[in-house]
Amino acid sequence: MTNKKAKLSLSEQGTDIELPIYSGTIGPDVVDVGSLTSQNLFTYDPGFVSTASCESQITYIDGEKGILLHRGYPIDQLAESSNYLETCYLLLYGELPSSEEYEKFVSVIQNHTMVHEQIRTFFNGFRRDAHPMAVMCGVVGALSAFYHDSLDISNERHREIAAYRLVAKIPTIAAMCYKFSTGQPFMYPDNRLSYSENFLHMMFGTPCEPSKISPTLAKAMDRIFLLHADHEQNASTSTVRLAGSSGANPFACIAAGIVALWGPSHGGANEAVLEMLQEIGDVSRIDEYVARAKDKEDPFRLMGFGHRVYKNFDPRAKVMKESADEVLQELGIENDPLLAIAKRLEEIALEDDYFISKKLYPNVDFYSGIILKAIGIPTSMFTVIFAVGRTVGWIAHWNEMISGNYRIGRPRQLYTGHAQRDFVPMKKRS
Ligand code: CMC
Repeated sequence: MTNKKAKLSLSEQGTDIELPIYSGTIGPDVVDVGSLTSQNLFTYDPGFVSTASCESQITYIDGEKGILLHRGYPIDQLAESSNYLETCYLLLYGELPSSEEYEKFVSVIQNHTMVHEQIRTFFNGFRRDAHPMAVMCGVVGALSAFYHDSLDISNERHREIAAYRLVAKIPTIAAMCYKFSTGQPFMYPDNRLSYSENFLHMMFGTPCEPSKISPTLAKAMDRIFLLHADHEQNASTSTVRLAGSSGANPFACIAAGIVALWGPSHGGANEAVLEMLQEIGDVSRIDEYVARAKDKEDPFRLMGFGHRVYKNFDPRAKVMKESADEVLQELGIENDPLLAIAKRLEEIALEDDYFISKKLYPNVDFYSGIILKAIGIPTSMFTVIFAVGRTVGWIAHWNEMISGNYRIGRPRQLYTGHAQRDFVPMKKRS
């Protein structure tokens, strides 16, 4: 809270309304418009471009400077020196763990990796060719039907156990979605492995032989999870908060987040990047697609470019690009035709006036798509993997909201439909 005030002058009434201004630790001040409703006024901000929907202490983004901080720590330092589970602890508890706290956390997560055996039977209700995100929405939403002992949202311990369960079981469910689509047996988690090794084991292992997991690929996978762990009040996190504000249980709220993530403007972009590269098909056709992306009459956009918040560069993309280079080198993939298209698109976006003037840089999904393809993960699983990494962010935001003062989220509207009119009986309608 500051002493600063904003004044809103209403020209018709000739009156002024004083609105309080709050300052955060860093970032823009916010004007509290909550009292406007008593003046019969609402604010109008489609897409929430200028609206802070809540107070939060988890993640800070400065889109102009390309800064992303989790609990104050820069994303590049976390990607370089931490790992996914340590970052999960940081997001959930607010501080980096001591070595004992870290060991205990890892062991608790490992102890929750299995899913209830009956969940396996759920899969049989889906078509084999169902999109894995469709299966994820259903199965994650159904978790609340299995874990009744962690559904009391007013109980701090219940919320903590729900967080453990979600972080631990999401990779198991994600890998089951993949195995179901291929017809291979589901793999049980192996708790001797790290989080990302275990995921690769459940994805690519079979009961017939021991899994061989490349440390480079496991490190890249861990980085993908870490770089997607949280991103402030994006569409899916805001959806989780909105669903949670009605008192819905955490499993249902995370299922809502998965749904919101699915779209190509958000988490679906990594899948859309690969589909776009496949559609372009050859370097010789790039100019045609770049021209389409610039054409206002054509809805086509270059997937993996641009961001609502980052208008300089996406700091996650920088680190992800390093991992992409490492993975491609390890796998000896240098002459892949799709990769050649991706590299040329990247060059164009960095030197072409249209992309520079609109501040459209390659985003995190541009590079994560390339890595996931190289690892051998099918395109339809890309957004599922984003959901695995983001689950901890969703649950941290949900928990922050539930443990503080919150009200049900209930936006208002600018109504432009009919004013009141009388019902016309069917016979009298022309
Ligand atoms: N290709 C071509 N033109 C673009 C693109 C693009 N990828 N993105 C934005 N523009 C243009 C857009 O046409 C508009 O031009 P004009 O001002 O002449 O009308 C201008 O740039 C601003 O676009 P906007 O739609 O108002 O920007 P936004 O902030 O509402 O949208 C976005 C952000 C990410 C949805 C958009 O850039 C986009 O659709 N990108 C492709 C999808 C994508 O890669 N999404 C993943 C985002 S990162 C993962 C995550 O955090 O979820």
